[in-house]
Amino acid sequence: MIRIAVMTSGGDAQGMNAAVRSVVRSALDKGVEVYAVYEGYRGLIDGGDQIRKMSWESVGGILQRGGTVIGTARSEEFRTREGRMEAARNLVDRGIDRLIVIGGDGSLTGANIFRDEWPSLLDSLVENGDITREKADQHPALMIVGLPGSIDNDMYGTDMTIGADTALHRITEAIDAISSTAASHQRTFVVEVMGRNCGYLALMGGLASSADWVFIPENPPDIDNWQDKMCQVLKEGREAGRRDSIVVIAEGAKDREGNPITSYEVKDVLENRLGEEARVTILGHVQRGGSPSVYDRNLGTLLGFAAVEAILEANPESEPQMIGMRGNRIVRTPLMRSVKMTHSILQTIADHEYERAMELRGGRF
Ligand code: F6P
Repeated sequence: MIRIAVMTSGGDAQGMNAAVRSVVRSALDKGVEVYAVYEGYRGLIDGGDQIRKMSWESVGGILQRGGTVIGTARSEEFRTREGRMEAARNLVDRGIDRLIVIGGDGSLTGANIFRDEWPSLLDSLVENGDITREKADQHPALMIVGLPGSIDNDMYGTDMTIGADTALHRITEAIDAISSTAASHQRTFVVEVMGRNCGYLALMGGLASSADWVFIPENPPDIDNWQDKMCQVLKEGREAGRRDSIVVIAEGAKDREGNPITSYEVKDVLENRLGEEARVTILGHVQRGGSPSVYDRNLGTLLGFAAVEAILEANPESEPQMIGMRGNRIVRTPLMRSVKMTHSILQTIADHEYERAMELRGGRF
């Protein structure tokens, strides 16, 4: 009997529910037993009722809901071998050796470490008398498939991560609302959006709401004159009759030498140099909440279905895959390649190799 489990991990993202629902129903449709792990890796370690067998009805009415109904967590314990041993024991006890993980690069890296260690974790469990050798031999490998779930759209191997489109809707709705109050007072607003390491939300949100200026980590402004340049552009906008001025800043914005640029710093520059009132709005977790867009519902659904196909095709020797969307086609990328490339983009930013960072982000940038 093949048994698979699905879990969400790391920051929640709209459309994760669609993916969970799709995994559960696609698996049932293929005659496979399917479990949901509640509360991310923490639930995998806790076991018990946190790993629940799913039925068709278990995932009814969740497609349109924000967040992830099976819960998520950022688990420190899973970073330890002891934590991963407990997790392995909980899976083996239930006869589960195929796992679909929906999350960002940290979560998918964790999944890959777990997979690599699996045989040695099972050996230790046998040595400790926690499971029998016979049981361990029935599950020689853990097969993993990753789905990119994060509002940041920062994963290599997919044009879009699950949640990014909805976050952009939240951002543009908010900036549209801010623009009307800004225009009434002829004010400038600095709007901070999420994206610790990735400027996608700032870039696309800024483009869709006709922002005057955008700060992103991948293409930072010059250290000594960004203030002048930004103020000049905003001034020209005012002179051309524009009543509202909008600056969008990613939370991870930096200058070309890697010094953080904060939204309050930008506000002070604008007030001091332009002599007009500026306000800061930090959108925060509003961007991650609420009902998923059509795009994210369907992305989650399509990727969930493809994940089940991939996990059923997997064998103990096959390389784990991440399923993504590229050029409107569902594609598989080796999971570790996706994770390594995603990390290498962060490294190029840290090394101030900005042209390379933009190149690695790909055509969507
Ligand atoms: O990774 C997704 C993300 O939303 C980032 O953009 C943001 O920096 C972070 O999560 C916030 O995390 P938390 O919800 O743990 O504060």
